[in-house]
Amino acid sequence: MSAFIVLGAQWGDEGKGKMTDYLAEEAEVVVRFQGGNNAGHTVEVGERQYKLHLIPSGILYDNKLNVIGNGVVVDPKALFEEIGYLEKEGVKVTPEKLIISDRAHVIMPYHKLLDKLKEKARGKNDIGTTGKGIGPCYTDKIERSGIRICDLLHEKVFEEKLREYTAMKNAYITKVYGGEALDVERILKEYTEYAKRIRPFVQDTSVKVYNEIKANKNVLFEGAQGMLLDIDCGTYPYVTSSNTTAGGVSNGIGIGPNMITNAVGIAKAYTTRVGKGPFPTELLDEVGEWIRETGHEYGVTTGRKRRCGWLDLVIVKSAVRVSGLTSLAVTKIDTLAGLENIKVCVGYKFNGDVIDYFPASLEDLANCEPVYEIFDGWDNSVADARRYEDLPANAKKYLERIAEFTETKISIVSVGPKRDQTMRVSEI
Ligand code: GDP
Ligand code: IMO
Ligand code: MG
Repeated sequence: MSAFIVLGAQWGDEGKGKMTDYLAEEAEVVVRFQGGNNAGHTVEVGERQYKLHLIPSGILYDNKLNVIGNGVVVDPKALFEEIGYLEKEGVKVTPEKLIISDRAHVIMPYHKLLDKLKEKARGKNDIGTTGKGIGPCYTDKIERSGIRICDLLHEKVFEEKLREYTAMKNAYITKVYGGEALDVERILKEYTEYAKRIRPFVQDTSVKVYNEIKANKNVLFEGAQGMLLDIDCGTYPYVTSSNTTAGGVSNGIGIGPNMITNAVGIAKAYTTRVGKGPFPTELLDEVGEWIRETGHEYGVTTGRKRRCGWLDLVIVKSAVRVSGLTSLAVTKIDTLAGLENIKVCVGYKFNGDVIDYFPASLEDLANCEPVYEIFDGWDNSVADARRYEDLPANAKKYLERIAEFTETKISIVSVGPKRDQTMRVSEI
């Protein structure tokens, strides 16, 4: 094992932060390859809880190198706020511990403003974004009018690009959306300060990560969001604007896909989603409410209520296919403790057939009816188990069905938010 990925196998918030922290013990380098501060990864170490958005979860260790790759979109304001938060918590963030790609794109004030204005203009068809400017920043990257970290560091280039793009965006903001124009001088001053502060952290991370893998170091790629939020494979348009699946690693870092050895999909024992979009197994009743309260299902980044529903194995199986998952880590089986019966979706009734894949068209998806298997529940003793053998028999049955249906072994089971509430079942 030298380069492995931790990925969300559902709609995000599966416990990637916890799993990255757990697996980082076996890695020297922890790498973010896509997304930005739309992510919210929770790590509990001892009695302390940390919430990370942009900085890889390996930062909580003293001896790991953390990398923000070229596929990530970086909001410098959010970056320095997060560094400030971590340092207050006693976590050092130095250029020896954190490096940032010179090719990563920079989130500008107009991206954040446009994210909000576009959402407002969409009205009832809004996506429910995090409002962090992620979509507009990736839009500019693809449209070839983005500002990269290397541009930010080049005084003259930055000023030229900033003046040109802000003028264009201001026209868009005021004429299309009726918003208020941004003050380019203020942005120039603010971002010139960020450039000074960010410079020591910046390097060619593709070269660094490549060399680390070549030197047989263990490298962990920490995914953000989840399979169904992928721009290509997810529930478009109710997705984020990056490739959240394994393919995103190669482009998001600049290494060949053959350098990746394993990919662990993190799957919650049930399903949640924040924001709008289809959700076939959603529970709009008191059971859904009970899961939300028991599992503390509130967004780490926006504080929004997460929608909750039964485990949908059609989704997890799709994640296996799309990302070539070599194993699954199942989290939060403790949250379901106390339920008499637990349902699991193993297919959708669609046009008289039963299908086990996610249709592309949202209209087709709306006509899909989940096919459920019903399992007997388990009790709270599940949270005390530290070995697979010690899990209640019904919890083991549940896990075995997940492995069987997805044709993927379960390598890790998590029974609580803390590092030690984790059991290793097999190699990842
Ligand atoms: P991420 O975005 O995938 O890193 O996940 P979040 O941090 O947004 O949400 C997962 C939440 O579940 C966090 O509050 C974690 O501390 C918590 N968590 C992770 N694994 C477990 C588990 O096995 N049981 C319980 N009860 N909580 C867990
Ligand atoms: P982690 O890494 C859950 C969702 C938003 C919205 C959609 C688009 O913590 O799992 P965006 O701001 O990215 O343009 O929003 O994607 N979303 C997430 N949902 N977990 C996340 O990250 C998310 N990041 C974005 O709620 O529906
Ligand atoms: Mg999260």
